[in-house]
Amino acid sequence: MKLSRILSNQNGVSRKQANALIASAAVTVDGETCREAAREVDRFSTVTCGGRVIQPGEQACYLMLHKPSGYLSATADKVHKTVMELIDPSLHNGLHIAGRLDRASTGLLILTNNGTWSRRLTEPEIRIPKVYRVSTACAITPETAERFAEGIWFQFEQLRTSPAGIELLGEREARITIYEGRYHQVKRMFHAVGNRVTALHRESMGNIRLDDSLTPGASRLLTETEINSV
Ligand code: URA
Repeated sequence: MKLSRILSNQNGVSRKQANALIASAAVTVDGETCREAAREVDRFSTVTCGGRVIQPGEQACYLMLHKPSGYLSATADKVHKTVMELIDPSLHNGLHIAGRLDRASTGLLILTNNGTWSRRLTEPEIRIPKVYRVSTACAITPETAERFAEGIWFQFEQLRTSPAGIELLGEREARITIYEGRYHQVKRMFHAVGNRVTALHRESMGNIRLDDSLTPGASRLLTETEINSV
């Protein structure tokens, strides 16, 4: 929301008065004077005017979890265990998952309460690379790499996936880089070339890599560098 709007949402302050207050250097955002009435300020920033707190600023939360197999990437479910059971309850409030993993898949899962930030990580148009280690039922052929490089046609969505990278690690093992995060994307890409994924592990999303020190089920807060990399 624009800074002038945050101020004018206060009883008795018109938009014109808000602009004047901002121009007179009476307003701070996160401790710094801001003279820009049009500045976009989210709910995580603290705003003061004349020393009075206008918006206290919510605590933003960013976590990485080493997701084990068997947990659903959901905040609640009547049947299956969810990844929330692995997160400290004091952090649950407002958390959502930034890029789900299938129940059997493992690896890097990011959770946050900041929807603007998580959209930057997951929106297909922003093309953040997501890296997976994949095991398959059949041998991965050279044709697979060619087909992935061309993009795979997804009938349901009526679209072609972005060219995906593939690094062979063994006859039936590879590291795959995709730039979207469509429903069951990696499994469907292998299915399209007549193969089947038997294990899938996410290693990274953009510059955020699964921390080697996290055992399955363990989580930690993201660092400033990781948060700012998105
Ligand atoms: N692609 C899949 O098919 N499954 C996942 O869990 C993630 C990407």
